[in-house]
Parts: sequence; C-alpha cells; structure tokens
Amino acid sequence: MQSPVKVLVTGSNGQLGSEIRELAAAYPDLVFDFTDRATLQLTSEAEVKEYFEQLRPQYVINCAAYTAVDKAEEGAAQAEAERINALAVGYLAKACTAVGAKLIHVSTDYVFDGTASQPYKPSDLPNPVSVYGVTKLKGELLAAQYTDVLIIRTAWVYSSFGKNFVKTMIRLMAEKPAINVVADQYGSPTYAADLAAAIISIIRSGKWVRGIYHYTNEGKTSWYEFARAIHALIHSSCIISPISTAGYPTPARRPAYSVLDKTGIKETYGIIIPAWEKSLKKCMDKLQLQ
Ligand SMILES: NC(=O)c1ccc[n+]([C@@H]2O[C@H](COP(=O)([O-])OP(=O)(O)OC[C@H]3O[C@@H](n4cnc5c(N)ncnc54)[C@H](OP(=O)(O)O)[C@@H]3O)[C@@H](O)[C@H]2O)c1
Repeated sequence: MQSPVKVLVTGSNGQLGSEIRELAAAYPDLVFDFTDRATLQLTSEAEVKEYFEQLRPQYVINCAAYTAVDKAEEGAAQAEAERINALAVGYLAKACTAVGAKLIHVSTDYVFDGTASQPYKPSDLPNPVSVYGVTKLKGELLAAQYTDVLIIRTAWVYSSFGKNFVKTMIRLMAEKPAINVVADQYGSPTYAADLAAAIISIIRSGKWVRGIYHYTNEGKTSWYEFARAIHALIHSSCIISPISTAGYPTPARRPAYSVLDKTGIKETYGIIIPAWEKSLKKCMDKLQLQ
C-alpha cells in the first residue's frame, strides 16, 4: 500500500481553504496539514523555510492572500498586500523547491485589465489595474521563477464560508427594500467548493504539467444578473436595479470583462466544470440549511 501524499494548505480559514478542509476527510490517500496565520506566518521567509524542512510536504496549495481589493489601494495596506500576495509566494516557492514539493498557487482574473472581448487565455498579457492585481501578478512571477509551480487563476469566488458577494446580497436583500447592482462588469462566478475539488483531483491524478491555468464555473454573467439569480433562489421581494460602474465608484478599478478561458485545465486534467447557475444553487441550498 502506498503511503498517503502530504499536502500543506495555507490560508486554510479562508473561503477556498475552508472548502478544501471540508473535502479532506473524503480522501484518505491525502494527509493534509492546514495552516493559518497563527500556525505559519507566510511573510517570514525563515519561518516558512523551517516549517517546510520539518513537515516536508509533497504538495502545497497556497490559498492565503490579501483579498481586500479596495482596502489594498490605501497606503498602509499596500505594503501588507505586497508582503502576502507577492513576497510570501516567493518564500513558499523557494521552500517548495528546497524540499521537492509541488506548489499549486491560486491567483486572480484581476491580473488582466478587462479590455478583452474574448475569454482570457493563460498566455494573454496581464495588465493589472489595481494594487491587488499588481501584487498578485508579482506573486505569479515570483512563483514562476521556480520549476514546480502550477498557477490557477480564478475569479468571483464565493462559498458558504467567509465573506463574499452571495452572502452580502442575501443580507442586503433581507435588509433593504431596493438595491443597485453593477451591470456592466462581466465575468464568471466560482463556487470555491468546485475549485477545491478541482485542485484535489489535480493532486490525485499524479500528473503534473506546470504552467498557468484558469478555473471558474462555466458561463458568463454580470454582477447584476448574478444578483438576480440569488434573488430568484431566495424568492426575495427586494427590488434590484442595474447600475453602471461609473454609478458605483470604488477605490480600486475592476476589469470590465474578466471571463477566463478554461480549456487548459479541462484538457490537461480532464476536469468537468459545473455551470455557475448550478453551483450557485448548491451553495445556496447549503446556506439555507445552516
Ligand atoms: N475571493 C475572490 O473573489 C477571489 C477572486 C479571484 C482570486 N482569488 C484568489 O483565490 C485565493 C483564495 O481566495 P479566498 O477567497 O479563499 O480568500 P480569503 O477568504 O480572503 O482567505 C485568504 C486567507 O489568507 C489568509 N492570510 C492573509 N494573510 C496571511 C498571512 N500573512 N499569513 C497567513 N495567512 C494569511 C487569511 O487569514 P485571516 O483570515 O487570518 O486574514 C485568509 O484565511 C486567493 O489567492 C485569492 O487571491 C479570490
């Protein structure tokens, strides 16, 4: 019998990390080490190096990130975003190389500027328009300096865990008689549970083709249409009106179009991706049971 594969997960209290944790029990062939800010401070290169030397993981899934996109535009927060989204990724990649671990690093659609009209391919030129996007791109570049890195860019992530658009909409629709939602930004939602399952299936495939991949749920929508789908599922009476990005100014600029081309992950790893509407329903059913 083969011994279980050792997988270290960072940012394990976040949306994606929590979903991986929930799935973990179903895979006795994998033994997980879930770390968070208290157990492994990723912004300390020495701490990361020492931790890896002791644990000697075979795979590392980096779910940790500074994800407060608007706050990242503020002076003090910029440095923090840079430390976790860029520098720490370099420390992780270096430590992985030292112990022979394979790194799966999660990145974002915000590395693109959103001016495309066709789904972004992994090879398309990034051009981030926010501090968050810039720091995440730096993280990708630092990770790519090392050989065994697989980067998965995702977008519009939601889950029954943590804070996200779906949970905010459910709350606002309960609290307010009417809300406005941006209707001129297009992308694809991602149920973090689906992404977690895809990452686990990559590890369990035993196949390793390094490079950049894209993963979101199938389909394209706007935030407004996404909100309307949530609205329909909870039978809300709140009135939802479409507004333009210009009518809802935010500190960080967001790509107007960030649909990602997922051909690579589907063809290389045989991953079947659910439609966003189907996964939204799954997450909402879970939320309603809680
Ligand atoms: N959320 C989205 O819509 C979205 C979209 C595209 C891409 N992504 C990417 O997808 C990945 C997963 O995102 P997510 O939504 O699961 O993020 P999340 O819920 O914000 O979780 C991120 C986790 O990182 C941890 N973290 C932050 N700084 C840390 C540090 N210095 N040391 C250790 N841990 C630290 C956080 O811990 P604390 O809870 O203690 O702060 C949190 O648990 C990230 O790479 C993100 O950039 C997300």
